Amino acid sequence: MTHNSFTLISDIHMGGLIECRPGDEAEHLLNIFFDLCESEVIIDLGDRVNNHDYCSDSENTRKIVSLFRKSGKKTYPVLGNHDLHNVTIKENLEILGLQSSYYSKIINGIRFIFLNTADPVRKECMGHISCQQLKWLEQELTADDLPKIICAHHPFFSQDMKGNPFFTTIAGQEKIDNGEEVERILLQGKNILCYLCGHVHWFYFKKVNTIPCLAVPSFIENYPLKEQCAGRYCEFSIEDRKIEISFKTVNPSRVLGKIEYDC
Ligand SMILES: [Fe+2]
Ligand SMILES: [Fe+2]
Repeated sequence: MTHNSFTLISDIHMGGLIECRPGDEAEHLLNIFFDLCESEVIIDLGDRVNNHDYCSDSENTRKIVSLFRKSGKKTYPVLGNHDLHNVTIKENLEILGLQSSYYSKIINGIRFIFLNTADPVRKECMGHISCQQLKWLEQELTADDLPKIICAHHPFFSQDMKGNPFFTTIAGQEKIDNGEEVERILLQGKNILCYLCGHVHWFYFKKVNTIPCLAVPSFIENYPLKEQCAGRYCEFSIEDRKIEISFKTVNPSRVLGKIEYDC
């Protein structure tokens, strides 16, 4: 496997201020982010908008797409629960330039599998993956021996949510409701390097059986403050089956720390 690096961003939540998500800071921070981003590939893990109404949400999704395009980086998005409050899956796909809400792409010898975990959203914000998509996932995971990275908005795995400001009050909604089935299918997959997700708005790293799993924090979340968010994101690199993940902020521009492991 050759050297591979890409950038992960999640939960941009562009829009008005909601709870501790100052979505009005997103555009400015994204512009700094693109200046700092060194890799040519960006994976956007969903929840692009602070949902308000159809006009605002579709407009903010378009604005994000146009900022990503202007950056010249190749971007691979997935759908989050907030993207679908007022804008349908079909409308999101049209804006994002995607043919399907779940898809895969081989990039530098790695098969990236992008899931739709809002298929459909359960309760207020819990994820789900449909039977049809699970069948597709099973095929994608076993069709070849290529190394594979799974990218999704929701985690499929449980986390210790103690200290998370949001998901302690909506226990269980931090993940996919049929996560056990997803785990069973993932464990039958060939050569899985990791599962990458967002949704929980914090850093979380856990090995689920043989699968290393990483939750990327929200770009805009700034609990308990409501302004001056840091713009958090991750950089991911693989070389000779060594994975290095750097945790970074744009405001100020800092490397907060790293995780390294062999896969
Ligand atoms: Fe979110
Ligand atoms: Fe979410």
